[in-house]
Amino acid sequence: MNDSPQPTEATAAPEAALSDWGNVAAGEVMDRLVSLCKRRGYVFQSSEIYGGVGSTWDYGPLGVEMKRNVRDFWWDSMVRRRDDIEGLDAAILMHSKVWEASGHVSGFTDPLVDCRNCKHRFRADVLEAMDEPRCPRCGSRDLSEARQFNLMFKTHMGPVEEEAAAVYLRPETAQGIYVNFLNVLNASRRKIPFGIAQIGKAFRNEITPGNFIFRTREFEQMEMQFFVEPGTDTEWLERWRDERRAWYAELGIRDEKIRIEEHGPDELAHYAAAAYDLQYEFPFGWQELEGIHNRTDFDLSRHEEASGKKLSYYDEEAKERYVPYIVETSAGVDRTLLTCLVDGFREEGEGKGARTVLKLSPRIAPIKAAVFPLVKRDGMPEVAGQVHRGLRARWNVFYDDGGSIGRRYRRQDEAGTPFCITIDGESVEDRSVTVRDRDSMEQVRIGIDRLEEWLAERLEGSQTQL
Ligand code: GAP
Repeated sequence: MNDSPQPTEATAAPEAALSDWGNVAAGEVMDRLVSLCKRRGYVFQSSEIYGGVGSTWDYGPLGVEMKRNVRDFWWDSMVRRRDDIEGLDAAILMHSKVWEASGHVSGFTDPLVDCRNCKHRFRADVLEAMDEPRCPRCGSRDLSEARQFNLMFKTHMGPVEEEAAAVYLRPETAQGIYVNFLNVLNASRRKIPFGIAQIGKAFRNEITPGNFIFRTREFEQMEMQFFVEPGTDTEWLERWRDERRAWYAELGIRDEKIRIEEHGPDELAHYAAAAYDLQYEFPFGWQELEGIHNRTDFDLSRHEEASGKKLSYYDEEAKERYVPYIVETSAGVDRTLLTCLVDGFREEGEGKGARTVLKLSPRIAPIKAAVFPLVKRDGMPEVAGQVHRGLRARWNVFYDDGGSIGRRYRRQDEAGTPFCITIDGESVEDRSVTVRDRDSMEQVRIGIDRLEEWLAERLEGSQTQL
């Protein structure tokens, strides 16, 4: 066993300090990232062979792995590692009365304006930044009055297309939790305060989707509803705001690129008494990453009223009954994934040393390690095969025996793979391998018998680098 460092790659050049993304200016980052995502199999445009469909995206081999890792990390932090949160997986299609009671049928709208000249439709708030109202596409001043446009997708349950059979694709997963509040409370014998967490698809007929997977019409949410005694809600709101910020740091996102914004009275959603946005500084500006909301007893009271079923809680110790207040944490899977990709994206070095790299946290990187035999002879492929088979029982590990080692490193840098393991002539003799770190490009020599434990510390523990 030998941990002596090997020389770093001769082609490595220092990172140019042009922007937060290395050699790439902010205005070019999204185009580069979209093209990397397609090239490497992270994200493809939906129905691309038919010209694509507005704002829906498909996750390729690497994207689907990373998405699972994001979900699993959230579920571990919010459910498995805690004593006060239960999980749920409610149906997407719910009784239409749910959406009447929740206020979404009447209030989940955006103001929409039509351009009579080019027929473009856009959100009325686009006009706020202009001196005089003009169509953002053709510049015409011939615009309609703003009218309210409901963002819910509507369809019909069963073969009858009539109003009585109308159902909606849920625009948030939260309502599935509220209508199951009593079921979960009784089944889990919980006492307040406690939470219910859920991950699932949500749908919004957004007027202006865009910025790749940032705002889409079909997306996935990771939501947690925390039920608390009225009067303790403000304290819980602040606790959850801070916990959630810390979660993004654990995910490897640079904390200086995260900020918290409190909603003003005119910005609050129809259900919220107070709210914070966790925002990230994307190349296209500061934007919401997650919402933390004090929904008071709004939702449970509305469902109580509409269903005629009691949704209150009896506090045995205080001998009093009340409708709990709810503090919600609501994050997007797709938006979190985009944030990790944007935060980790770099183009660095010059000339032959130039590389594109995704500095993803090992926790969510789709491929955890790649195994390379230096050449396809002299016993190296056999040892590499053994190492690969051993590690893939535990992680997603890639095998590559094509091209020069430098090119194999570059391919894995671009895919975001944290560690590359090279099996050379010495490995066949002494059962040791070279492990190269994606971010520092440093190399160490490690015995094969110690490799799995060494990787586990870095992939699953707190140590993330060599
Ligand atoms: N239940 C509360 C709720 O849905 P929200 O602020 O409307 O609150 C929460 O959404 C999160 O869901 C957002 O911070 C974002 O991460 C994600 N999200 C919302 N709309 C989205 C869209 N059209 N595309 C992608 N993600 C979206």
